[in-house]
Amino acid sequence: MTSQTLREARKYEEASEKLIQEEERPNFHLSARTGWMNDPNGFSYYKGKYHMFYQYHPYESKWGPMHWGHAVSEDLLYWEYLPAALAPDEFYDRDGCFSGSAITLPDGRHLLMYTGVVKEHQGDDMIREVQTQCLAVGDGVDYKKYEKNPVLGVKNLPEGCSRFDFRDPKMWQKEDGTYCCVVGNRPADGSGQILLFNSPDGFQWNFRKILISNRNRFGKMWECPDFFQLDGKWVLLTSPQDMLPQGFEYHNGNGTLCLIGAFDEKTDTFTEEYDQSIDYGIDFYAPQTVLAPDGRRIMIGWMQNWDACNLRSPEEPWFGQMSIPRELSVKNNRLYQRPIRELEEMRCKKVAFQNITFTGTISLDGVKGRMIDMEIRLHPEEGQELYQKFAVRFAQDEQYYTALSFRPRESILKVDRKFSGSRRAIIHQRRSLVNSSNGELKLRLILDRFSVEVFVNDGEQVMSATMYTHQEADEISFFVDGSVCMDVIKYDLMQ
Ligand code: FRU
Repeated sequence: MTSQTLREARKYEEASEKLIQEEERPNFHLSARTGWMNDPNGFSYYKGKYHMFYQYHPYESKWGPMHWGHAVSEDLLYWEYLPAALAPDEFYDRDGCFSGSAITLPDGRHLLMYTGVVKEHQGDDMIREVQTQCLAVGDGVDYKKYEKNPVLGVKNLPEGCSRFDFRDPKMWQKEDGTYCCVVGNRPADGSGQILLFNSPDGFQWNFRKILISNRNRFGKMWECPDFFQLDGKWVLLTSPQDMLPQGFEYHNGNGTLCLIGAFDEKTDTFTEEYDQSIDYGIDFYAPQTVLAPDGRRIMIGWMQNWDACNLRSPEEPWFGQMSIPRELSVKNNRLYQRPIRELEEMRCKKVAFQNITFTGTISLDGVKGRMIDMEIRLHPEEGQELYQKFAVRFAQDEQYYTALSFRPRESILKVDRKFSGSRRAIIHQRRSLVNSSNGELKLRLILDRFSVEVFVNDGEQVMSATMYTHQEADEISFFVDGSVCMDVIKYDLMQ
């Protein structure tokens, strides 16, 4: 049943994984089993475990013909690899099994929907990729592609919708037992739109309507949509390509977009009310969510920027990591994110300091490490003159560091990995406007071997960045221009 292409990939990944030492990988972030990883796919809870599939090119640490890698976890932090689930081995997906999603069918089978890609010659030497939506059904390890694939193609698209940019289906089941999916698409205006399809059984799909149109407001093509209800609102997540910056809210390049609004389920009408970035750091794209059995909406993104993939050499045995799973909520018409609470069980070796008032640079006894969970509260005292700048430097030795700095007068928080050991002329810094009055700020930093994720003001904003500084650089120091009062609580994180 398994094709030769998939068998080869499975054999290859099993042998290659053994060549990678545990310490060469992130500790609690999922990374490519071997070779290349991009978007999270098929994030679902199935047969008592979380399943995460991912865009995968096992044979090289750079993008190539897409397979689906596969891993499972009980706590979303310790991941166990399973054999690759999909390979590009059919006439309708021979050039790649692109992103998609997963649901559980009423009979207990696991249903995957993904984008099948086929290169088509357009005459005058132009090659374009035709994209259709395809299904595979399985038991949590082995998946069989559906004999009627593709289930959505050009014949299902209304006029003006591109068959070349039609990808990344995200399915869910409605309360009445029927199914829906949202798919990214490009209309005639060259920007993005999200199409809504529905299905009585998960196999037979029909176009319902255009859920929302970009109209060239937020970048161009919209990739990897997700759509769900949360805290009385409806949330649309998508990752726009070719963004132009807008103040400090959106950055150039591939970005992330969260639209919060209302959804009339009778007419399938989405009314957007608020927009924001999902992550304000350097490395975050194509997030996908799952509804956990306990009702939490949990999101994981690809912790990487497409434009900065050369931060890591393609000679390395793996490339690509997922973000920490984040619990989502909507408060004050904003998307809030918190590291999943399971992370707290990994905490050990607590070190706490309270009301440290300092000027210049200090380090604190026991505050160091590359796998840590650290909370910093800045709370300048009455009568203290507002400081100019605060910074925390980590992954630090005599030569290297990555920094998070805050200028209270401008209310700008900046992550900067310029001195992290990178030898490439790529984006190393990102700035974000944050909420702060009188220099008060709450930060929570999650460090794993090759990344930092900063949760600002209890998850009002998040900034993520990867860095590949050698692991011996594990010092942490604090700096202030002026004077500030600060609390620090730091834990090591151990599996
Ligand atoms: C987003 C993306 C998706 C596509 C996949 C291909 O990062 O471009 O739109 O399905 O990656 O690997």
